[in-house]
Amino acid sequence: MKAIVVKGDKQNPVLVWESVPDVEYGPEEVLVNVQATAVNRADLLQARGGYNPPVGASEILGLEMAGIIATVGEDVAGWQVGDRVCALLPGGGYAEQVAVPAGMLLKLPKEWTFAMGTAVPEVWYTAYVNLFLEGELSAGETVLIHAGASGVGTAAIQLANAAEATVFITAGSDEKLLACRKLGAELAINYKQEDFLEKVLVATQDQGVDLILDPVGGGYLDRNVKALKRFGRLVNIGQLGGSHGEMNMGLLLGKRLRIVGSTLRSRPPAEKVKITEQFQTGYWPLLRSGELKPIIDTAFPIEQAQKAHEYVAQNKNIGKVILTVGEQ
Ligand SMILES: NC(=O)c1ccc[n+]([C@@H]2O[C@H](COP(=O)([O-])OP(=O)(O)OC[C@H]3O[C@@H](n4cnc5c(N)ncnc54)[C@H](OP(=O)(O)O)[C@@H]3O)[C@@H](O)[C@H]2O)c1
Repeated sequence: MKAIVVKGDKQNPVLVWESVPDVEYGPEEVLVNVQATAVNRADLLQARGGYNPPVGASEILGLEMAGIIATVGEDVAGWQVGDRVCALLPGGGYAEQVAVPAGMLLKLPKEWTFAMGTAVPEVWYTAYVNLFLEGELSAGETVLIHAGASGVGTAAIQLANAAEATVFITAGSDEKLLACRKLGAELAINYKQEDFLEKVLVATQDQGVDLILDPVGGGYLDRNVKALKRFGRLVNIGQLGGSHGEMNMGLLLGKRLRIVGSTLRSRPPAEKVKITEQFQTGYWPLLRSGELKPIIDTAFPIEQAQKAHEYVAQNKNIGKVILTVGEQ
């Protein structure tokens, strides 16, 4: 089969679509002909040698895919050759075929494209896990979502709205602010022009927010802690703005805050199956019905994965960047 192979060096990785050994699959897995996969920030890091796949996972890039089941393992029940599916992956999505544990599969609605399918698992599960399981967001609370126009952000805005929370976001351009408002953000802050802490405090009469979903990290730590109300939660999912920060520990104690670090990829397979099942019961029906929507910015043929990575690295996307595989 063909897959993306990372060549070049750590500073300048070169993504090449070329022949690699075929994938093997186990009795509890299905083999899927990949039709679409998507770019995630983790892929950019992995291509630069900065993010190793979990032990036992494919070395090939790609944390999600949508495609057609080509073969079914002997212990798999309920899935058939020809089923249109999508799934979260620990790696291996940038390829013509991938092996997927049956418990990780979601069936694509008939009217969905493969691009829509692959736009769901990584960012919607991340948003779901960190808003609700880690962040314990509940109806009537207020959440601040940094990088609101990112793949994760566009999913998180919609999920938080569906859970009847009030949503504030930060983003770096007027176009992104508008997109986030259209998805349901009540307050949208251009962090390049305004101080998000000031805006949050004005909007909440100095109370602060209940939860912050934060992919920025170090540079935001002090202001994030100040922007939280008593019993607030800060869930850190990324470090786009650096991994070192300072904060006033007095506020942590005095406001009885909680700071949580969370990754999806490193969770054991059984936990990922559980997350898939919970998402399938809780929020997948709202996506299937069209009430919530995967937000897609653009698509590149997988042969142009390098271009797609550059596009994402330049912060150009609102929502997901898709890689299509083969004839669509
Ligand atoms: N922990 C997990 O399990 C997990 C899972 C998935 C993703 N993530 C993380 O979540 C984040 C979003 O992922 P994604 O794939 O949705 O990203 P994405 O679509 O590529 O969007 C990321 C956006 O973040 C903003 N940004 C970049 N650098 C920034 C900085 N220094 N300060 C503030 N904003 C910055 C940019 O938008 P602006 O133009 O608005 O600046 C950029 O477009 C990434 O950090 C990713 O690693 C974590």
